[in-house]
Amino acid sequence: MSESLKIQGPNLVLRFAQLSDAPQLFEIGSDVETTRYLSWGPYTELSQAESFIGGMPRQVEAGEELGFLVTRGDEVLGVTAFTEPRPRDRSVVIGTWLTKPEWGTGVNTELKAMMAALAFRAMGIDRLSVYAAVTNERSRGALGKVGFTEEGTLRRFHRHGDDWYDCVVGSVLRDEYEVGPLAAVPVQITGDVPANWIF
Ligand SMILES: CC(C)(COP(=O)(O)OP(=O)(O)OC[C@H]1O[C@@H](n2cnc3c(N)ncnc32)[C@H](O)[C@@H]1OP(=O)(O)O)[C@@H](O)C(=O)NCCC(=O)NCCS
Repeated sequence: MSESLKIQGPNLVLRFAQLSDAPQLFEIGSDVETTRYLSWGPYTELSQAESFIGGMPRQVEAGEELGFLVTRGDEVLGVTAFTEPRPRDRSVVIGTWLTKPEWGTGVNTELKAMMAALAFRAMGIDRLSVYAAVTNERSRGALGKVGFTEEGTLRRFHRHGDDWYDCVVGSVLRDEYEVGPLAAVPVQITGDVPANWIF
């Protein structure tokens, strides 16, 4: 994998994680509200964040998940990742979790612009997909704001512990991206995109 891939926005940098980031990630992932709609969590031990970070390069190489830390200077603000790559159809799913103090600050909009630039301008993606639990109104609001269209509901699609969630599936397509709010954000991509993530 390319260690040097970095995506720079006006205020944020997306970069690969290092083990030394584990304490900050542990703190973010220890919050019950942050992890309510995720497939894991909340973290209870630092080793869980360490093992997540330790597994990231293998997931990139295996073509399973291309994940980045969302950073501002030395601060780690969260994680954003592409999953479920479908090379034949040039599509990936994007997911994000952010530290709660940064909800509502614009960080999510900026990082979505950075990930969309990576997808549409560097990876050859034509469709960026999302899932959000029907009851995760904050996530649905955030996605609608940046140009994702909801397409339908997947029943009992996602489980968190013993809780099952119906999920909305949504997307932004390449031509919509080009004229939408995300394409207007200045983004610089440096380093090489891993070859197995170029479609
Ligand atoms: C999902 C997440 C990344 C979104 O980032 P965010 O900074 O909270 O999103 P934003 O504030 O930019 O956008 C949320 C929008 O939904 C609106 N909103 C919030 N709660 C809402 C509710 N209950 N009903 C309707 N709209 C709501 C907000 O007002 C905001 O719109 P506005 O800016 O026009 O006021 C962040 O909340 C997060 O990390 N959540 C925990 C992890 C998670 O659930 N990830 C998504 C899994 S699908």
